[in-house]
Amino acid sequence: MRWSNILSGVLALAPLSAAQDCWRNTSCSGPTETAFSGPWDENIFAPSSRSVSPEKQFLITQPDKTADYAPFTLRGNGSLVVYDFGTEVGGIVRVNYSSTGSGALGVAFTEAKDYIGEWSDSSNGGFKGPDGALYGNFTEAGSHYYVQPDKALRGGFRYLTLFLITSGNVSVQIEDVDLEIGFQPTWSNLKAYQGYFHSDDDLLNKIWYSGAYTLQTNEVPTDTGRQIPALAVGWANNATLGPGDTIIVDGAKRDRAVWPGDMGIAVPSAFVSLGDLDSVKNALQVMYNTQNNSTGAFDESGPPLSQKDSDTYHMWTMVGTYNYMLFTNDSDFLEQNWEGYQKAMTYIYDKVTYPSGLLNVTGTRDWARWQQGYNNSEAQMMTSLYHTLETGAKLATWAGDSTGLSSTWTDRAEKLRLAINEYCWDEGYGAFKDNATDTTLHPQDANSMALLFGVVDEERAASISERLTDNWTPIGAVAPELPENISPFISSFEIQGHLTVGQPARALELIRRSWGWYYNNPNGTHSTVIEGYLQNGSFGYRGDRGYYWDTAYVSHSHGWSSGPTSALTNFIVGITVTSPLGATWSIAPQFVDLTSAEAGFTTALGKFQAAWSKTSDSYTLEFTVPQGTSGNLTLPYISAAKPSIQIDGTEISRGVVYANETATVSVNGGGTYKVTVH
Ligand SMILES: *[C@@H]1O[C@H](CO)[C@@H](O)[C@H](O)[C@H]1NC(C)=O
Ligand SMILES: *[C@@H]1O[C@H](CO)[C@@H](O)[C@H](O)[C@H]1NC(C)=O
Ligand SMILES: *[C@@H]1O[C@H](CO)[C@@H](O)[C@H](O)[C@H]1NC(C)=O
Ligand SMILES: *[C@@H]1O[C@H](CO)[C@@H](O)[C@H](O)[C@H]1NC(C)=O
Ligand SMILES: *[C@@H]1O[C@H](CO)[C@@H](O)[C@H](O)[C@H]1NC(C)=O
Ligand SMILES: *[C@@H]1O[C@H](CO)[C@@H](O)[C@H](O)[C@H]1NC(C)=O
Ligand SMILES: *[C@@H]1O[C@H](CO)[C@@H](O)[C@H](O)[C@H]1NC(C)=O
Ligand SMILES: *[C@@H]1O[C@H](CO)[C@@H](O)[C@H](O)[C@H]1NC(C)=O
Ligand SMILES: *[C@@H]1O[C@H](CO)[C@@H](O)[C@H](O)[C@H]1NC(C)=O
Ligand SMILES: *[C@@H]1O[C@H](CO)[C@@H](O)[C@H](O)[C@H]1NC(C)=O
Ligand SMILES: *[C@@H]1O[C@H](CO)[C@@H](O)[C@H](O)[C@H]1NC(C)=O
Ligand SMILES: *[C@@H]1O[C@H](CO)[C@@H](O)[C@H](O)[C@H]1NC(C)=O
Repeated sequence: MRWSNILSGVLALAPLSAAQDCWRNTSCSGPTETAFSGPWDENIFAPSSRSVSPEKQFLITQPDKTADYAPFTLRGNGSLVVYDFGTEVGGIVRVNYSSTGSGALGVAFTEAKDYIGEWSDSSNGGFKGPDGALYGNFTEAGSHYYVQPDKALRGGFRYLTLFLITSGNVSVQIEDVDLEIGFQPTWSNLKAYQGYFHSDDDLLNKIWYSGAYTLQTNEVPTDTGRQIPALAVGWANNATLGPGDTIIVDGAKRDRAVWPGDMGIAVPSAFVSLGDLDSVKNALQVMYNTQNNSTGAFDESGPPLSQKDSDTYHMWTMVGTYNYMLFTNDSDFLEQNWEGYQKAMTYIYDKVTYPSGLLNVTGTRDWARWQQGYNNSEAQMMTSLYHTLETGAKLATWAGDSTGLSSTWTDRAEKLRLAINEYCWDEGYGAFKDNATDTTLHPQDANSMALLFGVVDEERAASISERLTDNWTPIGAVAPELPENISPFISSFEIQGHLTVGQPARALELIRRSWGWYYNNPNGTHSTVIEGYLQNGSFGYRGDRGYYWDTAYVSHSHGWSSGPTSALTNFIVGITVTSPLGATWSIAPQFVDLTSAEAGFTTALGKFQAAWSKTSDSYTLEFTVPQGTSGNLTLPYISAAKPSIQIDGTEISRGVVYANETATVSVNGGGTYKVTVH
C-alpha cells in the first residue's frame, strides 16, 4: 500500500515526455505540454532540456571553420576555443576538464559574434568597458570541475569562450561543457508554449518564434536581477526584482529589471505565445509595491534600479494593469491594487493644463527619445494618456466601480483626443508634430500610437500611415526622435498602427525589412530580437544617447522588440480577445501576400484558434472558440463585389454588415466553425 502510494506520487509528478527540471528549487507551476502541436513546433528555439551543451566550436582565428562540439585541448598560455550554442541561451556554465599543471581557465560570454574573445560583452551598466571574464583557478595537475558562481549568472549569450592562463608549459583538456538554463524558472518543459503561429512565409514564422523565445529569456528567477549600483569590475546578477518565483524583465543579458514601457509590447506577445502571465503579475505587483504613497507616482523601473520621474512609464504600468486583466481576469489582483491605480490616475491627470487641455509632462525620462517634457510635450505622451484613460474606463467597469469613474475617464479621453488633434497636428505635413509648438519633428512613436490607439479619423490615419514610410530605410524605420537609430520597440507600435488602419502590406514590409535584417544577420543570435541598431547596419544603438559608444552593451534579446509576435496573431491571422479572458473576441484576417496563416492561444476559458487559407478567388477560415463566448468575424472581400459567405455549408446573408470592403458576421456560442468566402 505504502509502496503504491509512492509510485503513483512519482508518476503524477513526472510528465510522460522526457523528465525535465524547473530552475533549482523553484516549484514547477508552468505548463508541461504545448497547447497546440503541429509542424510549427520545429520553429520553437527553446531547448528541450534545462541542461544544454554547445552545438559547434571554432578557433577565434578561423570563425567560419566550425566543427561539431567535442573534447578540445588548450595548449599553453593564451590558447582559446569558442563554443557556439546555436541560439541565445543564459544561465550557469559548468566545465569538466583536466590539466597537466597549474593555471586558470578563463570564461567569457557574448551575444553577438562581433565580441567573442577573452572579454565578455558589456552588461554591468557602469560603462567601464567590457565585463571581462570569470576564472576557474587550478593549482595542480588532475581533473577539475568549474561551476560558474550563482551571482555571476550570465542571462544572455550565444558564444562562450574558454581560454587558458598559465605560466608553465601546461595543457588543459576540456571534457564537457554544459549550461544550466536560468530562465523561465517555473517551467519544466521549456517548449510547452500555450500559443502558436504558422504561415506559408517561413521568415515570418521564424520572426514570430524569435519574439516568443526572447520573452522566455526575459522571464527570470526573481533573485537574479542586475546588481545596482554598477560594479567597478565584472558583473553580478544577484539582486531581488520582486515577489514570486518568476518575473518579466527587459532583457536577458541586461538590464534584468522590470520596465513597464517594455511590457507594453512584451506582454501582448507573451500572452499569444508562451501564455505565461505569472511573470507579468509579479512585475506589475512590484510596481504597485514601490508606488509613491503620497503622490501616486510609479517608478520608471522596478528594483533595484528603481529609476523615477517618467510620466510615460508611469502610464505604462497602468496600461499593463489593463492588459494583464484583459488576459487573466485576475480580480484579486485588481482589487488589491485598485486604490493604487486610482491614485496613479489622479497623479497623471493632474498634469493636464488649460486652456489647451493637454498633458504637461514633467516626468521626462522615457524610452531613449531625445526630447521629452514641458507644457504640451510631444504627442506620444498625449496618445499614451488617451490610451490610459480609455483602458482605465474599462478597468473601472471590471473593478465594479459605482462612482462614475468609467464615464468620467471616457469623457476626459474624448476631450484629450480633440485637444491632441487641435494642437499637435501638422496639416502641412499630414502627421503629428512632437509637441504643440511649431517644431518640424514628426516622431515615429506618437504617430504610430495615434494609429494603434485610435486617436485620429480615417483621413488623418491614412495620411499618418503614409508619412511614417518616409522614415524607412532598407533595414528598418529610423526614428526621427532618435536620429540614426532604428528601434524595433517603436517599430512594434508602427506595424500594429498600420495593421489597425487597414495597411497590412506596410506592416509586413516593415517586419521583413527590420526583423528580417536582424534574423538573417550573421553576427546576431538567429533566435531572438535585438533592442535597437543603427541605420548604418551596426549594432551601435544609442551610442550617443547614454550608451557611451559601447556597442557591446546593446541587448540582443529584448522583449520590447517582440511586436511582430502579437501583431501576426492579432492582425494577420486576426484573432484577438476583446474582453477579459476572451468572453468576447474578434477574428479579422488580413492576407497581404500570404496564402495561409493560422494561430492559437489559450485563456482560462479554453483554446482560441483560427486558420485561413486563400486562393485567388476564395478563402476558407476555420476557427475554434470556447463554449459560452461570442464574437465578430470581419471577413475581407475577395473581389470588389459583396462576397458569398458559407458557415459550415450554410449560406449566410441575414445580419451581415458590409462596410470598408469587409463583411461582419456575429457568432454566438463556442465551438468549431468552417467559413468559406468567395
Ligand atoms: C531555494 O534555495 C535558495 C538558496 O539557493 C533558498 O534561499 C530558498 O529558501 C530556497 N527555497 C525553497 C522554497 O526551498
Ligand atoms: C598569457 O595569456 C594572456 C591571455 O591571452 C595574456 O594577457 C598574457 O599576456 C599572457 N602572458 C604571457 C606571459 O604571455
Ligand atoms: C563533471 O564533474 C562533476 C563533478 O565531479 C560530475 O558530477 C559530472 O558527472 C561530470 N560530468 C561529466 C560529463 O563528466
Ligand atoms: C560581422 O562582424 C564582423 C566583425 O565585427 C564584421 O567585420 C562584419 O562586417 C559583420 N558582418 C555584418 C553583416 O554586419
Ligand atoms: C585566478 O586566475 C586569474 C587569471 O590568472 C587571476 O587573475 C586571479 O587572481 C586568480 N584568482 C585566484 C583566486 O587565484
Ligand atoms: C610542452 O609539453 C609538451 C608535452 O609535455 C612537450 O611535448 C613540449 O615539447 C613542451 N614544450 C615546451 C616548449 O617545453
Ligand atoms: C551581489 O553581489 C555584489 C558583488 O559581489 C555584492 O556587492 C552585493 O552585495 C550582492 N547583492 C546581494 C543582494 O547579495
Ligand atoms: C505604500 O504603502 C504600502 C501599504 O501601506 C506599503 O506596503 C508600501 O511599502 C508603501 N510604499 C512605499 C514606496 O512607501
Ligand atoms: C517641442 O519639440 C521639439 C522637437 O522634439 C523640441 O526641440 C522642443 O524643445 C519642444 N518644445 C518644448 C516646449 O518642449
Ligand atoms: C508645465 O510644467 C512646468 C514644470 O512644472 C511649469 O514650469 C510650466 O509652467 C507648466 N506649463 C503649464 C502650461 O502649466
Ligand atoms: C470602417 O473604417 C473606418 C476607419 O477605420 C472606421 O472608423 C469604421 O468604424 C469602419 N466601419 C465599420 C463598420 O467597421
Ligand atoms: C460585434 O460588432 C458589433 C458592431 O460593432 C458590436 O456592437 C458587438 O458588440 C460586437 N460583438 C462582440 C461579441 O464583440
